Amino acid sequence: MSASEALAATPPMGWNSWNMLGSDVNEAAIRETAEAIAALDLKECGYNYVVIDDCWSIKGGRDSNGDLVPDPAKFPNGIKALADHVHSLGLKIGIYSDAAEMTCANYPGSYGFEEQDAHLWASWGIDFLKYDYCHAPADQATAIERYARMGEALHKTGREFLFSLCEWGGRAPHLWGRSVGGQMWRVSADVFDSWTNVWAGGEPGFYASGVDISLDIADDLHEYGGPGGWNDLDMLIVGLKGRGQIGGVGMTFFEYQTHMSIWCMACSPLMMTCDVRAMDQETAALLMNREVLALNQDPLGRPARRVKRLGSCEVWKKPLADGSVAVALVNRGSVGSDITLKAADIGQLDNPKVARNLWQQQDSSDFRTELLQHVKPHETILLKISG
Ligand code: GLA
Repeated sequence: MSASEALAATPPMGWNSWNMLGSDVNEAAIRETAEAIAALDLKECGYNYVVIDDCWSIKGGRDSNGDLVPDPAKFPNGIKALADHVHSLGLKIGIYSDAAEMTCANYPGSYGFEEQDAHLWASWGIDFLKYDYCHAPADQATAIERYARMGEALHKTGREFLFSLCEWGGRAPHLWGRSVGGQMWRVSADVFDSWTNVWAGGEPGFYASGVDISLDIADDLHEYGGPGGWNDLDMLIVGLKGRGQIGGVGMTFFEYQTHMSIWCMACSPLMMTCDVRAMDQETAALLMNREVLALNQDPLGRPARRVKRLGSCEVWKKPLADGSVAVALVNRGSVGSDITLKAADIGQLDNPKVARNLWQQQDSSDFRTELLQHVKPHETILLKISG
C-alpha cells in the first residue's frame, strides 16, 4: 500500500460543517466542535478529521498575491491558529475548495490556482481537502484532469493530505479516484435529512438523495471500495433531526439506524454533521456503538453487498478480517416484517454458529440453518455471525 493509500487504510471518519452550519461556518463553532469530539470519546471511536466545508473565505476573491483569504468576520484568528488548536486536541483539520473558478456557494474556487492554494493550506497545517465540482465542465475527461491537477499540487507540497473528491458520482469516480490521488469519492447527490429523495432545485436532474436510494448505490458500487480508496455515500445526517441547513424534515430513530448501519456495512467514510456539542443520548448511541463502528473499520475493508431480497426486506453480507461475517437485515418497507435468515444465504454451513446482535451488543439465540428476526419499518438489525 502506498503512503497515500495508507492514509485511508480504513474509511476516514470525522465531522464536516456543511449540513449543520452551511454559510454560517465559523471559528468558534469549529473550535467547540473539535473540543467536544475530543472530550466526548468521539475521538477514541475514531472520528478524527474536523472539516471546514464551503464559505470559509472572503467571497469577493483573492488578495493582491492571489491567495485565498479566510473571512475575518468568521475566522477572526485565521485558519492557522484554528488548525494549531485542532492539532493540540489530537485531531486533524480539513478544508474545502472546488475545481472551477467558484465553489458551489459561489466563493472563490481553486482552478488555475492549484499549487498556490495547496501551498497555502500546507502552510496552515491542513490535513484534508474536500474538492467539489460545481461550475466545472460536465465531461469525465475534464473532471479527471482537474482532480489530477489538484492531486499533484497536494503531493508537491510534501505534506500528507487526504484528498476527498466530490463530483457526486456522475463521472464514475470509482473508476479513476485512486489514480488522481483520491482516498474517497462521492457517489451520489447530497444526502438530505430524509428517507426518500428530495428535489433540490438547481440543475435539471440534480436530485438530493434520501437515505433509501443510497442503499442501491452502495450495492451497485460495492466492489470498487477497499483499503486506500472508498465510495463516499455522503456525510452522516444522524442527529440532525430536521435542524440542519441541508434540506429534509428529519428521520425516525430506525431510519437513522438503518442509515448508520448501511454506511458502516458499505465501508463509507463516516463524517458526522450534527451538532456534537449538544448531542442527545439517542444520537450518541447511534454514532458511538463500537461494535457497529468496528464493521466500518474492519481491516479487511470489504464493502457489504445485498445477497437477497424478500419483498421490501433485504439481506446484506460483509466478510470480516477474523473470518466471521456481518449481516444486515433491512426492512425498507413501511410495515414490520419477519425475516428468516438462512445460513445458505450468507454462504454458511449447517453447523452451530453464534449470531451477535451488534446494536444491542447481545448474543442472540444459536443459529444453525435458520434464524427468524422481526424487523420494524425502516429498521436494520445488524448481526455478526461467528463460530
Ligand atoms: C456541494 C457538495 C456538498 C457541500 C456543498 C457546499 O453541494 O456536494 O457536500 O460541500 O456543495 O456548497
